[in-house]
Amino acid sequence: MNLPTEVRYRPYQDWTQEEKNKIAENVAKSPWHSGYHLEPKTGLLNDPNGFSYFNGKFQLFYQNWPFGAAHGLKQWVHTESEDLVHFTETGVTLEPDNANDSHGAYSGSAYQVGDKLFLFYTGNVRDENWVRDPLQVGAWMDKDGNIEKFKEVLIQQPDDVTEHFRDPQIFDYKGQFYAIVGAQNLDKQGFIKLYKAVDNDVYKWELVGDLDFGGTGSEYMIECPNLVFVDDKPVLLYSPQGLDKSELNYDNIYPNTYKICQSFDTEKPALVGASEIINLDYGFEAYATQGFNAPDGRVLTVSWIGLPDVDYPTDQYDYQGAMSLVKELSIKDGKLYQYPVVAMAELRHSQEDFSDKVATENSYELELTIPADTKTELRLFADDKGNGLNLTIDTESGKVILDRSQAGVQYATDFGTSRECDLNAGQEATANIFVDKSIIEIFINKGEKVFTSRVFPLEGQSGIQLLSGQASGSYFELKA
Ligand code: FRU
Repeated sequence: MNLPTEVRYRPYQDWTQEEKNKIAENVAKSPWHSGYHLEPKTGLLNDPNGFSYFNGKFQLFYQNWPFGAAHGLKQWVHTESEDLVHFTETGVTLEPDNANDSHGAYSGSAYQVGDKLFLFYTGNVRDENWVRDPLQVGAWMDKDGNIEKFKEVLIQQPDDVTEHFRDPQIFDYKGQFYAIVGAQNLDKQGFIKLYKAVDNDVYKWELVGDLDFGGTGSEYMIECPNLVFVDDKPVLLYSPQGLDKSELNYDNIYPNTYKICQSFDTEKPALVGASEIINLDYGFEAYATQGFNAPDGRVLTVSWIGLPDVDYPTDQYDYQGAMSLVKELSIKDGKLYQYPVVAMAELRHSQEDFSDKVATENSYELELTIPADTKTELRLFADDKGNGLNLTIDTESGKVILDRSQAGVQYATDFGTSRECDLNAGQEATANIFVDKSIIEIFINKGEKVFTSRVFPLEGQSGIQLLSGQASGSYFELKA
C-alpha cells in the first residue's frame, strides 16, 4: 500500500493507543487469517530475521512495520518455538530507536555467543536529505529477552559499495565466525562481501574480500545472502534483485535463488565449484529465505511469503505477509530438497481418503501420488462455478503448472497468473500440499520442487476437485 513517507517514518511513540486499537480492529476483520502460519499481529511482515537456536528454543524474528500494510520504519519482532511448528510472540522487539538504526532495524541474523544471543543487523540511517548510510550493527539478547544494543558500529559502509549494503548473516565455519553482507558496487551490480570476526570477537569484523560465488553481476543488488552447509556442501541462498532473465527464468518481481557449491575457500575468498543459479521456489511468492545450521545437525530455512513492491488484498485490513513453514534442507543426487520439518505431522488431525474429499475448511494437507505418464489436474479453493486454483501435474511431459487466474481475489497480475517448473518426464510424482486459508505450499517429490503462494478465496471457495487424470492418497485436516 502506498502511504506518505511522514506516515511510514512517524516515530513509534507518536502513535496513540487509539490509533493502534483501530489498526488492530481492522486486522481482526480480515477473512483471510492463516491458522498455522505465522502472521504479523498488525502491519507488514517481511523477511525472517535472526533464525537461530538459543536458550533451549528456536528463535525467529520477523521484519515488521506495525502500523499498516506498507514498508515503513522497520523493527524486528521476536517469536520462539520448541517444535518449529508453533511460534509464539514473546513481546520482545528490536526497535529503531537510536542514531545507528534511526530509519529502521533492517534484516540480519543471530547466533549464540557465550550465554547471550548476538543479533547482527543493518541499521538503516538517513540524514536530513534522505541520504542513506547503511550500518552493520549489533545487539545482545539475554535469556530474559532483554535487548542491549552495541554502541559501536560493527561494519561501516565500504568505499566500493553504494547505499545498498545490508543483511549481515553470521555463521560459524570450523570454529571461526564469518559474516556475509549483501551489496551493490559502484557499477550498480550485486555482490557479496565476506567478513571475519578477529579472535572470534563479534565486536571486531575484518574484511576478507568480495566472495566469488560465480555471480555475473547481472542483478543490481543481492538481498539477504545466507550460507549454509548441507552435508558439508556450501549452499548459498540469496535474493538477486533485477537479475537478468537470460540468466534465470523467473516471473516474480524478484527471484529467490540458490547455488550448491563444492567447497568454501576462506582465503580467496570463494565458493568453489558453484552450480548454476537455480530458483529456490517456483510459486508466486517466496523471498528472503533465511537458513542456518542448527545445533541438532539439521539445516533449517524459512521464507517470507510475500514480495517487495507488491500490494496484497489484505492491505485494506492493515496487514500483509506471512512466514512459510520451516523447511529442512537436504541434498540427494546432487539436487537440493526443501521439505517441512517432521514435526509438521503433529498438526494432522484426521485422515481421509483423498478421493472422498470434496468440501474443506481450507486447512489441510494432501499427500498424493500421481502415476507416471498422466496429466492430472486438480482444483483447490474451488467453488461450484468453475473458479479455483488449478494445479496441473503432468508426469507425461514433465511439468507442474499452478494457475491462479480463476482463484479468489486477483492481484499482482502484471507478473502473470501462472507459474510452472519442469519435472523428469515419464516418472511417478508425489505432491504434499499444505493449504492454510490464504496460503498454499506445494512440495513436489518431497521437496525437489516447491511452489509457495498466496490465494485470497472468496466466500465458499474451499472445495477440492479432481478435474482429470489420477491422484491417490490422503487428506489430512490440519489443526491450527
Ligand atoms: C528484503 C529487504 C532487506 C532489508 C529489509 C528491510 O526484503 O529489502 O534487504 O534489510 O527487507 O525491511
